[in-house]
Amino acid sequence: MPLIPITPLHTSRLTVRGVTAADLTQLLPINADDRVTHHLPYASWQSMSDAEAWLTRIEGLQATGGTQQWVVTRRESGEVIGAAVIFKYDEASARAELGYLMSQAHWGQGLMREALSALLDHALARHAGAGATEGLRRMEAEANPLNTASNALLQRLGFTREGTLRQRWTAKGKTYDTHIWGLLRDEWLAASQTQRSKP
Ligand SMILES: CC(C)(COP(=O)(O)OP(=O)(O)OC[C@H]1O[C@@H](n2cnc3c(N)ncnc32)[C@H](O)[C@@H]1OP(=O)(O)O)[C@@H](O)C(=O)NCCC(=O)NCCS
Repeated sequence: MPLIPITPLHTSRLTVRGVTAADLTQLLPINADDRVTHHLPYASWQSMSDAEAWLTRIEGLQATGGTQQWVVTRRESGEVIGAAVIFKYDEASARAELGYLMSQAHWGQGLMREALSALLDHALARHAGAGATEGLRRMEAEANPLNTASNALLQRLGFTREGTLRQRWTAKGKTYDTHIWGLLRDEWLAASQTQRSKP
C-alpha cells in the first residue's frame, strides 16, 4: 500500500502541507541558518540555487513514492516556519523515517510537536472503515545524542529510544553516534485515545 497521499493538515496554530516551489524563498533563510543545520548532515544553504537543487532532488524522490516533503506554516498568515519529511518508506514493512526542522525564531513554543502530532496522526493512522486501518505501522527517527531538542521532542511525542548506533554518521568533518527512535502505530493510537478520554 502506498503512503497516504499528502493533504493539508490543520492544527490550532498551523497548517502542514506539501512543499511547492513557491515555498523556497521562505525555506532558504531557515536552511541558511547554521544554528538550524548544526546537527543536520548537509551544509547550510547559500543561495536560491541550493534551494532549487534541493527541490529538484526532493521531487525526484517523491516521484518514486518513497518520500513526502511537507512544510509547516502558520495557519493564519501562511508563513513557512519549518519543514518535515517522511522518507525511506519501506512498503512491505509499512515503515518510514521522519525528519524535521523549524526556524530558530519559532523554537521552544511547542510548534514542532503540534506539527508532528498532526503528521503522525495522518501517516500512522487513517481509519478506512469498520475496524480497518491503513498507513504506516512504524515510524523511525535518528538523532545525534548531542541534539537535545530533537531527542526531547521525540520522547515527548512518545517515541521509544531503541538503541544507539556507534559512529553511524560522518558529516561536516565529524563522526558521531546516532540514537534510533521508534514509534508504533498501536502506541500512537493508544496514547491518542488516552489523551482524548481525559476530562
Ligand atoms: C528539533 C526542533 C525541530 C524542535 O522544534 P521546536 O518547535 O522548538 O520543539 P517544541 O517546542 O515542539 O518542543 C517539543 C518538546 O521538546 C522539548 N524541547 C524542545 N527544545 C528543547 C531543548 N532545547 N532542550 C530541552 N527540551 C527541549 C520541549 O520542552 C517540548 O516538550 P514540552 O512540550 O513538554 O515542553 C528544533 O529545535 C530544530 O529545528 N532544530 C534544528 C533542526 C534539527 O535538529 N532537526 C532534527 C534533526 S534529528
